[in-house]
This record gives sequence, C-alpha cells and structure tokens, in this order.
Amino acid sequence: MKRIVTVVVWAAALMVFAGPAFAADAKVDKGKALFASSGCKMCHSIAGVGNPKGSLDEVGSKLTAADIKAWLTDPVAKAAQTKAERKPAMMKKPLSAEDIDALTAYLQTLKKK
Ligand code: HEC
Repeated sequence: MKRIVTVVVWAAALMVFAGPAFAADAKVDKGKALFASSGCKMCHSIAGVGNPKGSLDEVGSKLTAADIKAWLTDPVAKAAQTKAERKPAMMKKPLSAEDIDALTAYLQTLKKK
C-alpha cells in the first residue's frame, strides 16, 4: 500500500513539474511549424532557410516577447515606430491569438549564440 502511495505521489509531482515544460515545448514546435507555413520565409530567414535579407536568427536576444508580438499583430505601426525601410513591408497575416503566441514563443528561442 505504501508503495502505491509513493508511486502516485511521484506521478503527481512529475505532472506538476514537467507538465508546463511539455506544454512550452509544444508551443515552440507549433510556432516553428507556423513560421514555415505562414509565408514568413518570403521575407525572413532562420538558420539559413528563407530570405537572408530578413534574418531572424538572433531576434530572441534583440526583441522582447511584447515587441515580437507587436510585429505580428500590427506590423504597420511597428514599422513606423522602428523606421523600418526594407521593402516589401511586412503585412499583417491572418493569425489567431494562439498562433501569434506560438510564433512569439518560437522566435524568443532564437538567441545570439
Ligand atoms: C512581405 C515581407 C514580410 C513578410 C511576409 C513577413 N515579414 Fe516580418 N518583417 C518584414 C520587414 C520589412 C520587417 C522590418 C525589419 C527589417 O527590415 O527586416 C519585418 C520585421 C519583423 C520582425 C522584427 C525583426 C527585427 O529584427 O526587429 C519580426 C519578429 C518579424 N518580422 C516576424 C515575421 C513573421 C513571424 C512573419 C510570418 C508570420 C513575417 N515576419 C512575415 C517583412 C516581412
């Protein structure tokens, strides 16, 4: 009986501690897939794939999550704010709030090596 209790306690502890980590990984994976499927590569590259003029390889070190999210929700305002001059300018993609969260989580992992 004691043994079963120990196993149950361990399993519960594992779920509490590892659960959020798994969820975070799933979000990053989803963001990675979205980057490939949402037309971002037309203007941006990651790890040598896509348009080299718009490398996002170190964007996680350069921008905060809020800034990345702002680029995805209102690129026109963000381009005006940062005086971005590269053309074609970034346009808003039809992404759900969940997709934007996932893309932001993924882009945040792209740090300066
Ligand atoms: C039509 C071209 C185009 C497309 C498509 C596009 N972007 Fe952009 N994006 C830009 C331009 C231009 C900028 C301004 C910064 C620059 O000159 O690189 C920018 C800026 C950004 C920035 C800020 C980069 C920095 O270094 O400050 C992020 C993050 C970003 N885009 C993510 C995305 C994601 C994710 C997608 C796909 C959902 C996407 N973009 C689609 C053109 C584009």
